[in-house]
Amino acid sequence: MQVILAPNSGFCFGVKRAINITYKTMENSDIPVYTYGPIIHNPQVVNELKRKGVIPITTLSEDTKPGKLIIRSHGAPPSVFSEAKRLGFKIIDATCPFVKKAQQYAKILRDKGYEVIIVGEANHPEVISIAEYADVNLSGLPNRQAGDRQGAKVINPEDLFEPIQVSEKLGVIAQTTIPVHYFQKVVKLLLPYAKELRVYNTVCEATVLRQKSTLELANKVEVMIVVGGKESANTSRLAQLLRDSGKETYHIETSDELKETWFKGKSKVGVTGGASTPDWIVKDVMEKIRKL
Ligand code: F3S
Repeated sequence: MQVILAPNSGFCFGVKRAINITYKTMENSDIPVYTYGPIIHNPQVVNELKRKGVIPITTLSEDTKPGKLIIRSHGAPPSVFSEAKRLGFKIIDATCPFVKKAQQYAKILRDKGYEVIIVGEANHPEVISIAEYADVNLSGLPNRQAGDRQGAKVINPEDLFEPIQVSEKLGVIAQTTIPVHYFQKVVKLLLPYAKELRVYNTVCEATVLRQKSTLELANKVEVMIVVGGKESANTSRLAQLLRDSGKETYHIETSDELKETWFKGKSKVGVTGGASTPDWIVKDVMEKIRKL
């Protein structure tokens, strides 16, 4: 059985950078090292870092002994930065520069008086951070299909929605990891509802390449294995894209989840890893499939 790895699989630039910053911060630190939320959506990496003393925290409080606080690649809202400073934490900002760009665009749109729409998952930390930069008062889209975050409107790209209010100035940005065609679809739907529509395409190039090469590989194999955290938005999105394309697809976190029956009668298997999946986990999965 041939096991083929998709090009552009595994850690993206922003995740590699955040992990490197974390290891560097941890070295010789004589004060506690925290990450604001898990550094990446991969439990194996987070557990490894925990063993080395890096503590993920999700809330800031007076009860936590101040130390170095690493902001992960997804970024954090401005309120987290100010609260951390107030409580005496030393902030190490590992926000991916592409996420920073999206935050800046959100702020520009807000400052210039646009109503801001973020196309992405309302509960994703990146979207929560971008939304706070875009803090404007919006109303109009049905909540059933769109969520409010700090005044900015968040539209899940997979939902169809019915805008009910024509806006003078509408600004649109994307969560960096959504498929670009979802973003295009929402922008097209919004067009009749804005007198002026300003769009920043903040979908990250690494996401576009990863999704493209994964779909290309899927055309050449009989089954696809997507490796990465179940909480990872970009990994789940990869699996969803493959399923939407009609390909038999399995999303696993580690090789332990592989099942022999998935490969019965198959001669070509494709493997891809999400942006937060370390190479060693992908390699381990490929090895085990070969053995099966
Ligand atoms: Fe950054 Fe793109 Fe990765 S936004 S964190 S390089 S997926």
